[in-house]
Amino acid sequence: MIEIVKSCSRFKGNPKIPGDKSISHRSLIFGALCEGTIEILDLLESADVQSTARCLSQLGVKIRQSGNRTWVEGMGNRSWTHPSSDLDCGNSGTTIRLLMGLISGLAIQATLTGDSSLVQRPMKRIAEPLIKMGAKITLTREDFAPMTVAGGSLQAVEYSLPVASAQLKTALIIAALSARGTTVLRGKIHSRDHTERMLAHFGIRIESNNTEIRIPGEQSLRPNAVQVPGDPSTAAFWLAAASLIPGAELKLEKVSLNPTRLGFVRVLERMGADLKIKITGENPEPVGTIEVRSAPLKGTRILKEEIPSLVDELPVLAVLASQAQGVTEVEGAEELRVKESDRLEALASNLRVMGVEVEVRADGFRIEGPQRLQGARIKTQKDHRIAMAFSVAGMVANGVTEIEDAECVGVSYPEFYKTLRELTQ
Ligand code: S3P
Repeated sequence: MIEIVKSCSRFKGNPKIPGDKSISHRSLIFGALCEGTIEILDLLESADVQSTARCLSQLGVKIRQSGNRTWVEGMGNRSWTHPSSDLDCGNSGTTIRLLMGLISGLAIQATLTGDSSLVQRPMKRIAEPLIKMGAKITLTREDFAPMTVAGGSLQAVEYSLPVASAQLKTALIIAALSARGTTVLRGKIHSRDHTERMLAHFGIRIESNNTEIRIPGEQSLRPNAVQVPGDPSTAAFWLAAASLIPGAELKLEKVSLNPTRLGFVRVLERMGADLKIKITGENPEPVGTIEVRSAPLKGTRILKEEIPSLVDELPVLAVLASQAQGVTEVEGAEELRVKESDRLEALASNLRVMGVEVEVRADGFRIEGPQRLQGARIKTQKDHRIAMAFSVAGMVANGVTEIEDAECVGVSYPEFYKTLRELTQ
């Protein structure tokens, strides 16, 4: 499906930001591990989260939904079901990687697979430490899905994370919950910390400091309700568009203000954006309101330490960089090459068709702005964040922008184009 985006002169409103994708996946999986039933409010309804729900159902977990409420009946000590067919994780890296950790600790075997993008993404980084703990995992060409995972009794490990990936960290923490002994994670542990916060909310003993995370094994989760806050990575597209469109004004409420997710907001402030942020609650995530008005932006340098806190926002940040005064440089973002698409390649080629000069590097990019954006046909590579980032570009480009395979936004934000129209009319 092709979506047409035109340059717009009005951008105002108070759009509801859908539930956080990371917290939604975790709510379902942690709910499934509980001794009892949990209620989740405002779970994200999107293709990725449906992939997690569908796979859990195949493992015997009962999930019900009514309006904005979802109930998950935890399996506790009950025996999980051997799935009779493959677990199809669709486009969702979080689904497949977190399920690798979950199944490793269960006495079942499953084959995990996904769509043409997911089967090209690296899985050895998760499989290797899980195999050390005692899981039996067979990957395709040693790194990819489809894979079979046979779980059982696991032994705690001490492991240094080689990549700052919350999916890797979470898979290992989930496995650690059922292992014998205390698992200690060190190395690149500074990624989004929803898992650490949420497990404490479910009564799990988990200690983390600047250098390590300690998870004593053989623990069970106590049921607790979850209120899913709005997704800051989704809010990022509207913050970017509002910063660029003259006269724009938006108010985004109930958005997660977890510091491990706010790298984009901090960078936007550094670029000169007009943002007002107010924390309104804190359980277990800080949540609040972000108000934004358009403002002239200037280029900035994004260092590798900042990447984990804004990894999903880099495509839209590249669009902002093309409109900011001066140079914007990003380093240490090599992980972008193994997301739903090679996002460095996708953002550079699409900026170029829109007439922007961009220098791409192995681990980042350099853009000198401002440069005129010319409406063009965007190849999204069926990557939701590329589609939304270049829709923002289309909103400030000359002429018409056509977004190919625009239905891919359904992975994280099915209402994206409907909301875009509402805010611009
Ligand atoms: C996620 C972690 C990040 C992020 C993804 C969601 C999570 O991936 O890009 O959208 O929910 O843990 P990595 O762990 O691969 O960095």
